[in-house]
Amino acid sequence: MEKKFYITTAIAYSNDKPHMGHAYEFFLSDVIARYKKVKGFDTYFLTGMDEHGMKNARAAHKNGMTPQAFVDEKAESFRELHKNLGISYDCFIRTSDRNVHWPGAELIWNKMDEAGDIYKKAYKGLYCVGCEKFITEKDLTEEGKCPLHSNNIPEEIEEENYFFRLSKYTDKIRSLIENKELEVVPESAHNEMMALLDQGLEDVSISRKEDAVLWGIPVPNDPSQLMYIWCDALTNYISALGYGREEDANFKKYWPADAHVIGKDIVRFHAALWPAMLISAGVEIPKRVLVHGFVTSDGKKMSKSVGNVVDPADILSRFGTEATRYFFGREMSPYDDSDFTEPRFVEAYNANLANGLGNLVSRTTKMAESYFEGNVKRTSESPVKSGSINLLGPEASLEGFGVSYTISNFYLPRYERHMEKFETNKAMDVIWEVISLLDGYVTDYEPYKLIKIDKEKTEGVIFGLLMGINEISKMLLPFMPDTSSKIRSLINAKEGDEREIISFEVKTPETSLFPRI
Ligand code: MSP
Repeated sequence: MEKKFYITTAIAYSNDKPHMGHAYEFFLSDVIARYKKVKGFDTYFLTGMDEHGMKNARAAHKNGMTPQAFVDEKAESFRELHKNLGISYDCFIRTSDRNVHWPGAELIWNKMDEAGDIYKKAYKGLYCVGCEKFITEKDLTEEGKCPLHSNNIPEEIEEENYFFRLSKYTDKIRSLIENKELEVVPESAHNEMMALLDQGLEDVSISRKEDAVLWGIPVPNDPSQLMYIWCDALTNYISALGYGREEDANFKKYWPADAHVIGKDIVRFHAALWPAMLISAGVEIPKRVLVHGFVTSDGKKMSKSVGNVVDPADILSRFGTEATRYFFGREMSPYDDSDFTEPRFVEAYNANLANGLGNLVSRTTKMAESYFEGNVKRTSESPVKSGSINLLGPEASLEGFGVSYTISNFYLPRYERHMEKFETNKAMDVIWEVISLLDGYVTDYEPYKLIKIDKEKTEGVIFGLLMGINEISKMLLPFMPDTSSKIRSLINAKEGDEREIISFEVKTPETSLFPRI
């Protein structure tokens, strides 16, 4: 059977244009999707918009638009970001789509109802529109506000709603998470869930009175109530594949999800409510929830009131897709909060793209062109013997090994291990270790001097460098796909009968890959 990999991002609220946190999550999911594709998985990558609920309806109202017209506009701004950030999604779902999404949301409701897990109850509680959830007094700050949404004072709501018997699933979910049948990554998020489950889950309201929310999917057989936005939104992960519709081949093929990529504020919805809904409805649970940290600015949450918001559209238009992807991949840590500031961005760009990668590629291709007219062959001297340099660093001596042997045996496995654990920044660190390895190689062999004494040996040195750059281009592919393919077309590796590289037809880039900022 073919290996499959189904990966999703959270679907963003449509109340505003996309911010850095959204951009980072899309990027992270895209890297994983591209990596799995390279590894031969039949990959399906879903993203989309969470368009119902109070938050979106109020934003539309404030802008003097109907909810539908408003969310249509926001969906366009997200699509634009996806395009500019090079996000290779297969499906962009919108929860206002009555044909694609609603049948699945209705079916899961009916299944949960048939399982006896839905009941009606009068309820009074505090609701945070920012989180789109009921919040208890003990979770509030001293000023009586939601810790995540200091602009909103939670609203008191008293209604009769439908409730879902989430409490019933506490033990089941506890054991699934404990046994890693539902893997919650990283450890801190796993522990947060275990602590929550130790306290026990409470039943949750899964509908709102129609006039209170104004905008949502009617509850089957009771249009006076609309589905609670989280119940509606979580279902996107299966409705997008065809759950509830006739054309459900993708659902059969790709479900269960291999990775739901989400931020740390919505772990409970994904690792408690969602699996409980699925178990209740008789659907398999996802395999893994990957929880990333927040994008911050100067250590603070990006927020309009603090005035530290960096707009991804602005960064992309000024610095381009590849530089932005570099920063997200290497300079941000997927499982921790990470700062995005323009000074850090520019510094990292100049040091590692203009100098590091850009400089290595340009000087190697220049030497290849001027010493060998661009045609560099594997000679008897290649792969090059390591003389004075120690290719592995202080741990071992690798006298006699060639560059590509060293990379494939000692660097690639580390890169792969990090990629398998979704440690994107550490995987990228390995790529930059290889860049310094090759820089050191140039310093040690001084091909610009060697060419005057021994042309054949110089060809071996340049061949080794090109082999190294070729490996770099492969490792870069999930992170910086355009740079990867540009490098490949500059060095143009030619394979022999045994599929080993026998020569390179090198061109010097017309303009520097990464001009200094
Ligand atoms: N609509 C819900 C998700 C429903 S999924 C069934 C939602 N939307 S959101 O627009 O608020 O957030 C979308 C994603 O962006 C979430 O994974 C969230 O954690 C993430 N981020 C929001 N702000 C963020 C940062 N500042 N940094 C990184 N990611 C953050 O929640």
